[in-house]
Amino acid sequence: MGGNKKRKRKEEVKVKCKYSENSPDFTHLASLYPSFQPFLHYSSRHNYHTIDWTDFNATRELTRVLLLHHHSLNWWIPDGQLCPTVPNRSNYIYWVADLLSSDIIPNTISAGGKVRGFDIGTGANCIYPLLGAALMGWSFVGSDVTDVAIEWAEKNVNNNPHFSEMIEIRKVESNGSTSCVQGLHYEEPVHSGTEINLCESINTEVAPLPSLPLDSHIQENKNYRGPPILLGVVRDDEKFDFCMCNPPFFESLEEAGLNPKTSCGGTSKEMVCPGGEKAFITRIIEDSTELKHQFRWFTSMIGRKTNLKYLTSKLWEVGVTIVKTTEFVQGRTSRWGLAWSFWPPIQKSSIFLPEKKSNISFLLEV
Ligand SMILES: C[S@@+](CC[C@H](N)C(=O)[O-])C[C@H]1O[C@@H](n2cnc3c(N)ncnc32)[C@H](O)[C@@H]1O
Repeated sequence: MGGNKKRKRKEEVKVKCKYSENSPDFTHLASLYPSFQPFLHYSSRHNYHTIDWTDFNATRELTRVLLLHHHSLNWWIPDGQLCPTVPNRSNYIYWVADLLSSDIIPNTISAGGKVRGFDIGTGANCIYPLLGAALMGWSFVGSDVTDVAIEWAEKNVNNNPHFSEMIEIRKVESNGSTSCVQGLHYEEPVHSGTEINLCESINTEVAPLPSLPLDSHIQENKNYRGPPILLGVVRDDEKFDFCMCNPPFFESLEEAGLNPKTSCGGTSKEMVCPGGEKAFITRIIEDSTELKHQFRWFTSMIGRKTNLKYLTSKLWEVGVTIVKTTEFVQGRTSRWGLAWSFWPPIQKSSIFLPEKKSNISFLLEV
C-alpha cells in the first residue's frame, strides 16, 4: 500500500445531547429535587455548585435526577453497581442514531420504521435501553449474565411502564441458554472526568487494511472464555438494526484501579473479563461474522485507544464492508466508539487510507 496517498476527512459532530452546550444546572436541579440538595457544595475555585465526584451516593443521585428531569425516567441501582453518566451514555445513543440515518448501508431490516436494538451487557442500570426508548423510541433486547443485573434491569423497566413493552431483558446463562423477562434503573465506570458538560464526538471512517488470512484470525481469537455474547443469545429468527455494548473494560480489578477522582461504582463482574475489552469485543467480532445478516450495524464502546486500533484491523480481517469510529469526549475523559457492518455500502465515502505500514493511524483528537 506504499503508493497510497493518505486522504482524510474529519467530521466533527456536535451531538445533539442536552449537555453538549451547557452543563446541567445543579442549583436548579437541587431546587426541584430536594433529595439532591445535600450532595451539592460550592466550589470557590470554580465559582459554581458541584458534587463530590468521589461519592457514589452523589453520582447516583445526580444520575437519578437527570434521568427523571430530562427524560421522565424512574431509575435506581443498588449500592456499588456501575452508575452511568447520562451525557456519556446519551452520546453513544446519538452516535448510533447518526449511523442508522446515514444511508451508508441499506435500511431494510426495520418493519414500519421501528428500530430495534440489542444492548450487550445492559447492567443493573439498563441505561441504554431506557435512554434509547426515551430519546429515540427504539425497542431493545438487553442481555446480561448476573442475577443482580437482571433483577434491577427488570425493576428499572417495570418502573417505567410506558416503555415496558419496548424492552426485553434477557438472561445469558454461562452454558449458552437464555431466558427472558419483559421489563421494567444507572453507571459510569472508572473514568477521570470531573465535569459533565462536554459532550462531543468526532467521527471518522476508516478504510481497509490489507487482510490477513481468516484462519489465522480465528485461531488467534479464541482467548475469550466467558459466557456467550451474541451467538447463542440472539435467536435465529431475530433481526436487529444494531447492537451496542459498554464492555467490561479491564482484565483485573487491580487494573480497573478505581479512579480516585470519581466514584461510579462497578463490581468486578461488571468491569472485568479475562482478556479485558480486547477479548470481549474480539468475541463480538467473531460472533458478528455468523450473524452478519441479522444486524445492520454492530457497535461497541472502547476504553483504550490502543484497542481501537487492534480491533479495527481485526474487522478488516473478517471481511466487513465498513468501519466507523468516533471519539466520545466527556470532560477530560475519552472513550471511543467502533461500528461495523457486513452490508454492502450504498455510497462509498471512504476517506482514510492506511499508511505504508499495516497499522492505521486514526484521526482522533484527544
Ligand atoms: C461495563 S458493564 C455495562 C453496563 C451498562 N450497559 C452501562 O453502560 O452502564 C458490562 C456489563 O456486561 C455484563 N456482561 C459480562 N459478560 C456478558 C455476556 N457474556 N453477555 C452479556 N452481558 C455480559 C456484565 O455483567 C455487566 O453488567
